[in-house]
Amino acid sequence: MAVAEQVKNVLEARGLVKKFGKKTALAGIALNIREGDFTGLLGPNGAGKTTTIKMLTGLIKPTAGEIYYYGRDFFTHPRDAKRCIGVVPQQSNVDRDLTAYENLYLHSILYGIPKKQRRGKIEEALEFAGLREYGHRQVKTFSGGMKRRLVLVRALLHGPKILFLDEPTVGLDPQIRKNIWDLILKINQRKGMAILLTTHYIEEAEKLCRSTYIIDKGRIIAEGSPDDLKKDMGRYVLELFLEDRIEEEFFSSKDDALTRLKECGHACKIRQVTLEDVFIKLTGKRINV
Ligand SMILES: Nc1ncnc2c1ncn2[C@@H]1O[C@H](COP(=O)(O)OP(=O)(O)OP(=O)(O)O)[C@@H](O)[C@H]1O
Ligand SMILES: [Mg+2]
Repeated sequence: MAVAEQVKNVLEARGLVKKFGKKTALAGIALNIREGDFTGLLGPNGAGKTTTIKMLTGLIKPTAGEIYYYGRDFFTHPRDAKRCIGVVPQQSNVDRDLTAYENLYLHSILYGIPKKQRRGKIEEALEFAGLREYGHRQVKTFSGGMKRRLVLVRALLHGPKILFLDEPTVGLDPQIRKNIWDLILKINQRKGMAILLTTHYIEEAEKLCRSTYIIDKGRIIAEGSPDDLKKDMGRYVLELFLEDRIEEEFFSSKDDALTRLKECGHACKIRQVTLEDVFIKLTGKRINV
């Protein structure tokens, strides 16, 4: 059997609906995540990303829909499912008055990690996060990036199969953001863990994610690898600088774009299509922080 056929589905969700009173936050979405996948859930503010993650991790109940982890129903086997889930929420929830070690220790108790294994796992986690020397410092003395790294490795402590990251780098400066992305990649590659992340940083999602779901107003409006989504639009964009606006035209070959450039009679430039272009075309919005 080919290796590709042996890859298992970690998570399957179908027909997920969430209503808050009269407001429909999610209008029936489906997701499929396989072992080792690196998937981005991209969407503008209020699209339903956090609501999706909260439902998939059992924090809120869907109004309708089905969720399966390794083929088992989440709602009838919640304990099995929760063992294979790691979560990094949008709002950081470490205890600032405790040390990094103590925060990890609390998590190890909550997740039933046997007492004998706790110390070893915590030390390994601190090392992995580059926080070994800071283990016994109170978290309130940590920088934003250190805190984020701590929350990340805390979510790994019990050995989940899928890690949910809700805006893991929002509010961090570019260099620290890069540092967090590197750590997330390392988790995916070294630990083979499936990742589902939401982000506003679309150019970084484009670099990291092998598959993406684009969500808007509670619906998935496109899915596929960043490359496939871009291919569907055409590979090249011609930007025409008109008097009052910039107009964009899409072409599948550079030659076609060049031909148009020569005849258009405006100031213009050719560039490659980005995932941001796909996003704007589909949602009519920029994805901004
Ligand atoms: N507890 C709640 N009660 C009422 N409405 C809610 C609640 N939680 C979310 N919503 C609404 O559901 C929609 C989706 O919200 P959600 O937080 O999932 O969006 P998001 O894509 O994560 O946005 P952001 O990018 O700003 O984090 C929004 O319109 C939001 O106002
Ligand atoms: Mg959110």
